[in-house]
Amino acid sequence: MWKGRFEKDTSDLVQRYGESISYDWRLYSHDIRGSIAHASALNAAGILTAKEFAAIKKGLNQIEKEIDAGTFEFSIGLEDIHMNIESALTRRIGAAGAKLHTARSRNDQIALDIRLYCRDEVREIIGLIRKLQTALVGCAGRHQSAVVPGYTHLQRGQPVLFAHHLLAYVEMLERDAARLADCLKRINVMPLGSGALAGSTIVLDRKLVAKLLEFPTVTTNSMDAISDRDFVAELLFAIALAGTHLSRLSEDVILWASAEFGFVSLSDAHTTGSSLMPQKKNPDVAELTRGKTGRLYGNLMSLLTLLKGLPMTYNRDLQEDKEPLFDSIDTIRMALDVFAEMVAAMKVNESVTLKAASDPFLLATDLADYLVKKGVPFRNAHEVIGQLTAHSLKSGIAFQEIPLETYRSFSGAFEQDLYSVLNVTTALKARKGIGAPSPSNVANELKKWKRQLAPKASVNRNTRNRMPKV
Ligand code: ARG
Repeated sequence: MWKGRFEKDTSDLVQRYGESISYDWRLYSHDIRGSIAHASALNAAGILTAKEFAAIKKGLNQIEKEIDAGTFEFSIGLEDIHMNIESALTRRIGAAGAKLHTARSRNDQIALDIRLYCRDEVREIIGLIRKLQTALVGCAGRHQSAVVPGYTHLQRGQPVLFAHHLLAYVEMLERDAARLADCLKRINVMPLGSGALAGSTIVLDRKLVAKLLEFPTVTTNSMDAISDRDFVAELLFAIALAGTHLSRLSEDVILWASAEFGFVSLSDAHTTGSSLMPQKKNPDVAELTRGKTGRLYGNLMSLLTLLKGLPMTYNRDLQEDKEPLFDSIDTIRMALDVFAEMVAAMKVNESVTLKAASDPFLLATDLADYLVKKGVPFRNAHEVIGQLTAHSLKSGIAFQEIPLETYRSFSGAFEQDLYSVLNVTTALKARKGIGAPSPSNVANELKKWKRQLAPKASVNRNTRNRMPKV
């Protein structure tokens, strides 16, 4: 492709060192979509005849079919996906193929391909987030009355509905989806026409290319357009943060599935055994997800480090953006998919969670609130209940069993009605402020999420990304 200036061939070692076809081949459909749109602009500018344009389109579509079918032969000598496709095209259709790269550089070509790829993937990932949210809402709905202790510091705190706990993850995932949708705004800008760095003296209709590729806008600085990958960095961050949320959920599932908690049972299909200990049933999916989150962070760090200190404009370093990007996308897609499947089959052991949630100390805060309602300042109430807790621990008498006289020896504000507070059901019902886990609040939230997550008939996810006819 650059043979004019050189006298010697590239060394084998350098070819192997510099090739990216072993991983960027997966951009082929985006590369071809971009090339067809570029050829349309060349045709509109009179650089390609209608016949040449038709031959290019036909040739590229044929190449795409062969790559789809696995019959296309890639060559490491041709370095990357762009040159592999262009060279195959020229071999097949001759001169018209050799005109395709007019007013284009691989620098703006790769910037375009990555944007097209990221755009498709972001939409897929958002779809998978919806799938996991739906599974979480489904599990919450199946166990709507299950009560669990809510924890801080992994110490029992106050009772909550299990559904409330799961819906916390639905909220986190909702923000993850919103962050991805926001990234999409910056991804969805068309860079082709920026050339190697300074556009071209052959001026093409960039807006036409944008329209053909369904980009709402075009980039407005050629140097920026080919040299920055900030849109990849923010995508990797959004994915890493979604991974953080999945990793926290993993940790909960791992704890819940342990004998010590026993809160949930995972399906055999989503657990593994031990090669040595016959009794084991391990929550590997959750452990792997927790572990893979490390790669998501690593990929983000790789990319940020890659960009830092690059002089303007394109530098070959940028080729190193692809593997972290592909890896993060593959990893998060799998993790979301497998988690959705696992959660859909997860069962809550409601009698076990109820027993744990019936720990009288979970209602200590409720007792303090009771005193506050009788006019005791909260700090004093807190101290009184602290002393009562010590009394209960020392005597082995649960809050419910302590006689009224004893209560009154700690505070004169206690009356007979204190016992009605000491009940998990009452305690949950009382938490009815916005965002708190009263059963009616949780029921409303479940209804809201079900409505929100129901597939919308108007959005057809299969056709949205398809290249319009040119
Ligand atoms: N494979 C290259 C990349 O991923 C494409 C652009 C190459 N440009 C160049 N001038 N060598 O960045």
